[in-house]
Amino acid sequence: MNLQVKSFEEYQDVYNYSLSEPEKFWAEIAENFLWRKKWDQVLEWNFKEPQIKWFLGAKLNITENCIDRHLDTLGDKPAIIWEPNDPEEDHRILSYKQLHQKVCQFSHVLQNNGVKKGDRICIYMPMVPELAIAVLACARVGAIHSVVFGGFSAQSIADRIVDAECSLVITSDGGFRGNKETPMKSVIDDALVQCRSVKKVIVLTRSRTPVSMLKGRDVWWEDEVRKVETNGLTDFPAVEMDAEDMLFILYTSGSTGKPKGVVHTCGGYMVYTGYTFANVFQYQTGEVHFCTADIGWITGHSYIVYGPLSQGATALMFEGIPTWPDAGRLWNIVQKFKVNILYTAPTAIRSLMGYGDGPVAGKDLSSLTKLGSVGEPINEEAWHWFDDKIGHNKCPIVDTWWQTENGGLMISPIANVTPTKPGYATLPLPGVQPVLVDENGKEIEGNGVSGNLCIKFPWPGMLRTTYGDHERCRTTYFATYQNMYFTGDGCLRDEDGYYRITGRVDDVLNVSGHRIGTAEVENAINMHSDVVESAVVGYPHDIKGQGVYAFVVCPNMHGNDNLTRKDITMTVSRIIGPIAKPDKIQFVSGLPKTRSGKIMRRILRKIAEGDTENLGDTSTLLDPAVVEEIKAGAL
Ligand code: WTA
Repeated sequence: MNLQVKSFEEYQDVYNYSLSEPEKFWAEIAENFLWRKKWDQVLEWNFKEPQIKWFLGAKLNITENCIDRHLDTLGDKPAIIWEPNDPEEDHRILSYKQLHQKVCQFSHVLQNNGVKKGDRICIYMPMVPELAIAVLACARVGAIHSVVFGGFSAQSIADRIVDAECSLVITSDGGFRGNKETPMKSVIDDALVQCRSVKKVIVLTRSRTPVSMLKGRDVWWEDEVRKVETNGLTDFPAVEMDAEDMLFILYTSGSTGKPKGVVHTCGGYMVYTGYTFANVFQYQTGEVHFCTADIGWITGHSYIVYGPLSQGATALMFEGIPTWPDAGRLWNIVQKFKVNILYTAPTAIRSLMGYGDGPVAGKDLSSLTKLGSVGEPINEEAWHWFDDKIGHNKCPIVDTWWQTENGGLMISPIANVTPTKPGYATLPLPGVQPVLVDENGKEIEGNGVSGNLCIKFPWPGMLRTTYGDHERCRTTYFATYQNMYFTGDGCLRDEDGYYRITGRVDDVLNVSGHRIGTAEVENAINMHSDVVESAVVGYPHDIKGQGVYAFVVCPNMHGNDNLTRKDITMTVSRIIGPIAKPDKIQFVSGLPKTRSGKIMRRILRKIAEGDTENLGDTSTLLDPAVVEEIKAGAL
């Protein structure tokens, strides 16, 4: 079966076929990929344990799909175009042949440093081509990568390294983002104080930030590559993997304190990301695909690295941020490289919108043919601005709903195929069976309804487990509703059967498209020595989508309110990372609690939203007076 549908009727036919014959459908899709050995069975599953296996018995290496199979036809075509943070610095282009050579060399480096199939490798790097090379080299040698976003603190990195028992870390001396420089190696040094499993650290030169290199543990990327070159080693035969062998772990936040290591496997993830990339973006050979995400998040894994490369696409990778040196940066990049597909996040669109039309004026955006949005609900104003000012009303916008746990796009328009509607992720992709359920887990049928979004049938890209704790995977995703995967999102299905995601219904915040657990932030705040307890909720934020609002009990603070606020913010930065910093901190004498001691978050959410008139029933509170105080002091 062709990966791309070409008309809405065809989409409907394929969708129906994927419902009636899911295994046949996915087998036909999987035929489009390169396997060393095909599967004996397409699917084995139950959502009880859960146990999910796709393409059982199949053998492959995902990098042969992403690189080797394109060498004959696309060898000299760009695989990765890299635009640096500083527009004055030269960009870089890696053809598929060059990417192959670099991935092979670095695979040797990994092997020379003791890496074996199944080892876990932590990658903490800036958005440079070597990050993609490191990811692919791990996959080529059969090691499991765990990429940690550059905005996380040493403590967060340490937690992730310990949880996955990583044996090696790949990092760089430092990284640039806007006018900031992050001393990445030094952050890793701080993290490694707590990590006994790590035997080696490979350090790429990027920023020339001074670093301390420990004898016996730390080696330079360039030195290691030079050794391989001296030995004349160019190819590295990819290690054969089982379809269900782990490909990577990616940590993400949930409603409990500790981030979970979402596990994806080789075969299903490859098929799912390749298929959804080709179909949703209707990728045509030669097009330049620019996904503005960081590879530290799932969007970067799936739609900068694996999805595009498996389809022989040209992926543009950008090291910097959309607002530096000015708010025209993305448009300059589009113009410079004649970008065809721009895939970004509502938070970026809203922020750029705030600068008015000036930064867009005069930029040649005529190369653009398709636009995409991901990570959070897109408000209509931002949708229209994107459509008018960037797409000039001629580019379809694919509002793609999905999650780290999903591996790839789930509910989304298909470019030029699905009629779009602002704010709507529209319809499920073939193979995806969404359902809306009520509080009791009863399926809500028909249109013009809303409920909690679940998926009732497996798809190849879904998570298989949470690393080291399968029970956690079961209770988080498969225990709320029987025989369904629960997404944690609320959703409505309108009269046309179109889906609109309304946001998380659990204690997960979505701040600038980043997932942050409220419990995680509370734990971090509570680490501050003056804090007795705290409660964190989200509130609507014009640019970030959601902001972090913290109610903090801090009776004997040292210093004044503002200093203590800064101290608390510092604490959160140190424990989690700057991305989780509270936007507002309100000091309160107590938190609204029920008689059984449960914090009534519903009330705090209302206060944070500024909706203090409708607090609902407060009669079950232990101390209703505290609500009046909190209302009066709301920020
Ligand atoms: C939210 C990001 C509305 C949603 C790929 C989900 C969205 C969470 C959309 C996953 C969208 C993602 N419209 N909401 N198009 N895409 N979300 O794991 O709440 O970082 O549960 O994956 O982002 O975030 P994650």
